[in-house]
Amino acid sequence: MNTQISAKLHSAIDNETDFVLTDDGTTGLYSHSVSDIYHSSYGALSEAREKFIRPLNFTQNFNNNILTNKTIRVLDICSGIGYNSKAFLDYILKLPTFSGAKIKIDALEYNKQLVLLAPFINDGLKDAAVAFLLFNELKDEIFDNFDLIEDVILNKSNHPFFSRRIITLFEKYFLNGYNKSSPTRFNAFLHNIYYHYVSKRNKTSLKPSKILNFSFAPHYGDAREFIKSTSACYDIVFLDAFTPLKLPTLWSEEFFKQLYKIMSDDSLIVTYSNSAAVRNAMLAAGFFVGKTFDKKNRPSGTVASKNSNFISQPLDVFDLGLLKTNAGITFNDPELEWDAKTILERYNLKKTRLKLQSSSSYIKSHKNKKEKSCMTL
Ligand SMILES: C[S@@+](CC[C@H](N)C(=O)[O-])C[C@H]1O[C@@H](n2cnc3c(N)ncnc32)[C@H](O)[C@@H]1O
Repeated sequence: MNTQISAKLHSAIDNETDFVLTDDGTTGLYSHSVSDIYHSSYGALSEAREKFIRPLNFTQNFNNNILTNKTIRVLDICSGIGYNSKAFLDYILKLPTFSGAKIKIDALEYNKQLVLLAPFINDGLKDAAVAFLLFNELKDEIFDNFDLIEDVILNKSNHPFFSRRIITLFEKYFLNGYNKSSPTRFNAFLHNIYYHYVSKRNKTSLKPSKILNFSFAPHYGDAREFIKSTSACYDIVFLDAFTPLKLPTLWSEEFFKQLYKIMSDDSLIVTYSNSAAVRNAMLAAGFFVGKTFDKKNRPSGTVASKNSNFISQPLDVFDLGLLKTNAGITFNDPELEWDAKTILERYNLKKTRLKLQSSSSYIKSHKNKKEKSCMTL
């Protein structure tokens, strides 16, 4: 489904990207250059919660980090306007066991404008603490790059996509003669935003003990460059790249092999993709791989870990059979630097060379087998 058309409301950020209002009332995006949605039409926030946070199985897999006060290191690949990091923080802040764990998020994203807009987006979170946390971490960059977001936020047709409180403040402080050339005044303005953002109701959730040990660091550019050069180690990786067949750059076998090197023994990759090619690439990298389900028990994606105990729903016989068909053919990108076109060309050549069973005939024969076995019962 094309969100751009089905969305009740949309407005252009630039020639390449539209804001759209998703079904849960939160702001999503549509990319014209990739012809792909950033966020599911059923809801940007709901999608982050169902496809990225729920599959973490956090209380089981990461409870020890909380109890021992270890830093939880998160890599948010393709962070965009920040839903996965925000939904994660929202979840953590509400955890009854949470009393001040350390959280460090590295956010990888091409588009700086999207990252700087993240704290202002109408994200549907009742608690403003999360936007506040992001805002606080990004405020110097927001000041230095205000031109990147100023027009977008002040454009009236974009207002439904932002937090109402923020728009009012921008209008009040910025339009009424606020002088952005003065850092002191700008800082005062930002402080006012914090103050209004953190309404009395929300102050209680901003206990200093909960937010002292938090960092959110954006890294602009190709995510492949970052994962090749970083010496960091991660516990949680959110992988939210565009659809593999549209943009395979962040789904190759070599990409997952590199991720393997920068993840701790007790860590988890979470992605919305349930592509057989992606699952095969994860397996080739040495991960245990499992599938995930939303609260209505519909498939919602894939998880990968070095620790088999982190995989609560391993791939079943059907899924493993599918990996052996042409749907399971992996993308390759030997030095992690090919462009999408080259990766797809090589992928198509590999497909022709391997001549594997088509996934549709596999699915059909599997269905027939299942029906037969039911009849014999
Ligand atoms: C599906 S959207 C992710 C949405 C995001 N998680 C959010 O909450 O808004 C994909 C994002 O990946 C970014 N992107 C695509 N290829 C990239 C790459 N090679 N390195 C870094 N970012 C990339 C795009 O700019 C886009 O923002």
